[in-house]
Amino acid sequence: MGYSVKIQKAAADRLSQRRLTAKRESDFRREEIFAKLPKAAELEKGIADSGIKAARAVVSGGNVTEVLEGLKRQNLAMQEELERILVSNGYPADALEPQYSCKRCSDTGYYDENGRTLMCSCLKQALTECACEELNRHAPLKLSTFESFNVDLYPDETDSNGVNPHRHMERVVRYCTGYAGSFTPESKSLLMCGATGLGKTHLSLAIANEVIKRGYGVIYVSAPAIIAHYESQMRSRSDTDELLDMATDCDLLIIDDLGSEFINQFSVSHIYNLINSRLLSRKPVIINTNLTMRELEKSYSYRLVSRLNGEAEKLNFFGKDIRIAKKRNN
Ligand SMILES: Nc1ncnc2c1ncn2[C@@H]1O[C@H](COP(=O)(O)OP(=O)(O)OP(=O)(O)O)[C@@H](O)[C@H]1O
Ligand SMILES: [Mg+2]
Ligand SMILES: [Zn+2]
Repeated sequence: MGYSVKIQKAAADRLSQRRLTAKRESDFRREEIFAKLPKAAELEKGIADSGIKAARAVVSGGNVTEVLEGLKRQNLAMQEELERILVSNGYPADALEPQYSCKRCSDTGYYDENGRTLMCSCLKQALTECACEELNRHAPLKLSTFESFNVDLYPDETDSNGVNPHRHMERVVRYCTGYAGSFTPESKSLLMCGATGLGKTHLSLAIANEVIKRGYGVIYVSAPAIIAHYESQMRSRSDTDELLDMATDCDLLIIDDLGSEFINQFSVSHIYNLINSRLLSRKPVIINTNLTMRELEKSYSYRLVSRLNGEAEKLNFFGKDIRIAKKRNN
């Protein structure tokens, strides 16, 4: 997919920062090693000098092949001795080289294969990370974690439906922590249903935090926000759209507050297509809603709801509005 110049620059900066850090750390390490092991410094200088000697031999003529062969042997011997000294002093054999995060591209983002320059997977990963961070910059991700989710806020007594909200929510949280901890791009979709203020947004953001930490691309949007986005996209007639591309392609899409958007043909068909395309390509989506299955069916068609029923794990939220409970405790 295509990324905006802003995202490309942010990803390139991220890699060049890694490269700089690796270089800086290796400068420190070299200084430390050379201070402790002067012989290592001498050998490294000898190795560098043999390049100059080789160039001189080529220019001055004579039996160049023989001289070059000799220099090569010397060079190899010096390298072996240098490595021996490093290893016997507890350093890795390549301790004098910068230790890049990505061995394949040395944190440049590109590598050569059979004469072709290819984009490295670490740059692709950085592009996804930067795009998701940018698109999620307004989501209250940091505030909503599993640690800050308190099951004691749910009443520990059987309600009129015969459900003990506390015990039930304990199971829901256990399911969600397991889901986040073992998430893969082939994980199931989730449908979180329940009245207002019961922690649906909180728990889905807690999952998002964990899944992002594990290196996956996650996009969080609310249904009204994505509809507003579709509308402005239609007006601007632009043909590139990071949010919609990422919403379709990311490893995990979270659609919050489904049903709170203004329901009309336009919104229903866009939401339907988005969810349907994720379900068809077996990419997980977490949907949060205050609507019952019957209400969802009325707004978004029987087909979508029956597909969701078949493919998503339904998590019901019970209890009393935690927004109110928290206010009372403050
Ligand atoms: N179990 C919990 N422990 C701690 N804080 C919670 C818990 N559940 C909800 N909250 C907090 O209560 C507030 C409301 O929760 P949240 O927004 O997740 O509810 P919701 O189910 O998404 O409601 P709505 O349907 O209105 O969107 C948030 O500030 C959230 O952090
Ligand atoms: Mg919510
Ligand atoms: Zn790389």
